Amino acid sequence: TVDMTARIGSLTLPNPLMTASGCAAAGRELHQFFDVGELGAVVTKSVMTAPRSGRDTPRMAETDSGMLNSIGLQGPGIDAFVEKDLAWLREVGARAVVSIAGSSVQEFRDLAARLADEPGVAAIEVNISCPNVANRGLVFACEPTSAASVVAAVRAVLPPTIPLLAKLSPDVTDIVEIAAACVSAGADGLTMINTLLGISIDVDRMRPRLAGLTGGLSGPAVRPVAVRCIWQVQAAMLAGRLPTVPIVGVGGVRTGLDALELVLAGACAVQVGTVAFHDPSAPLRVRDELAKAVQERGFSSFMDAVGHAHRVL
Ligand code: DOR
Repeated sequence: TVDMTARIGSLTLPNPLMTASGCAAAGRELHQFFDVGELGAVVTKSVMTAPRSGRDTPRMAETDSGMLNSIGLQGPGIDAFVEKDLAWLREVGARAVVSIAGSSVQEFRDLAARLADEPGVAAIEVNISCPNVANRGLVFACEPTSAASVVAAVRAVLPPTIPLLAKLSPDVTDIVEIAAACVSAGADGLTMINTLLGISIDVDRMRPRLAGLTGGLSGPAVRPVAVRCIWQVQAAMLAGRLPTVPIVGVGGVRTGLDALELVLAGACAVQVGTVAFHDPSAPLRVRDELAKAVQERGFSSFMDAVGHAHRVL
C-alpha cells in the first residue's frame, strides 16, 4: 500500500485530507458520519475576536456552476471557540488547523496570541481573503504589503512549533507576488484558494439571489482556478522566485482524481469543502480514492506525487 503521510513543514499528518475552512464548522456534524480524527486535519471556520452574526440572509445560493455564499464570518468568537470547539476537537483526537480572521492586524495578532498557549492547535491558517466583508475590508490578501503585515504579526506571537498557513484569494492580478510577500513575512505554507467573488441573479424575481449581492463562488467551477493558482506558485518556487514552502490545495474537489489534480500541480495537502454539503463523508472518501489513484500511478508514497506534473521527462 501507498504511504499517505503528508508533511507540511514541521507538521506530519497521517494523510493529506482536510476539511476546508467554513464548510464544516468545527467538525461536529461531520463526526456523525465518520470519525474526524481519521482526517489529516479539521480546518475550523474562521474565528474572530468577538461573536458575530454575519451578513443578512439569504446568504447561500446554489447555481448550476457552484455555490455562492456571503456568510460574512459568522461565528461564536474566540472565547467560546476555545472553550467548546477546540476542547471538543482535542477530545475526539482530531488535529485542528485553526482558521483566524481579523479586521485589523492587531486582531489577527490577538487571536494568534490567544491560541499560542492552547493545547491541540496543529497549525494556524490566517484567513486574509474573505470576500464577504463590507468594501472588501478584510481582503488583506489583495495587496502584498497588507498580506505580509498580517503574516508577520501572527508569526511573531506563535511558537515555532505551530506552522502558519496563509489563505490566499484567487481575485488578484498576481498571486505569485502575494505568495512571495507572505513567505518573506514568515508564512510556513500557503492555502489556495478562497472563494471567487460572484453574483447570481434569480431570473424569475429578476433580482440578485443574495441579500448582500456578492458572494464567494465555490464548488467544481473554481477547481481550474485553484489548479492555476497552485501551478503558478509552485512553478515560481521551482524557478527560485520565492522560497519553497508547502502548498495546501482547496477548490472544487469532489473525488480522489480531483484531489490528484491539485496534488500534481503542487499541493501537499488537499481540503474538501462544498461537496460535503450533499455528501458529508466526502473528505474520507476522497482520501481513499486519492490513495488508490496515487498507487495506481506507480507512486510508493503520496509525497512523490506532489508537483509531479511540473517534472520534465
Ligand atoms: O467564501 C467565504 N466565505 N470565504 C471566507 O473566507 C469567509 C466566508 C464567510 O464567512 O463569508
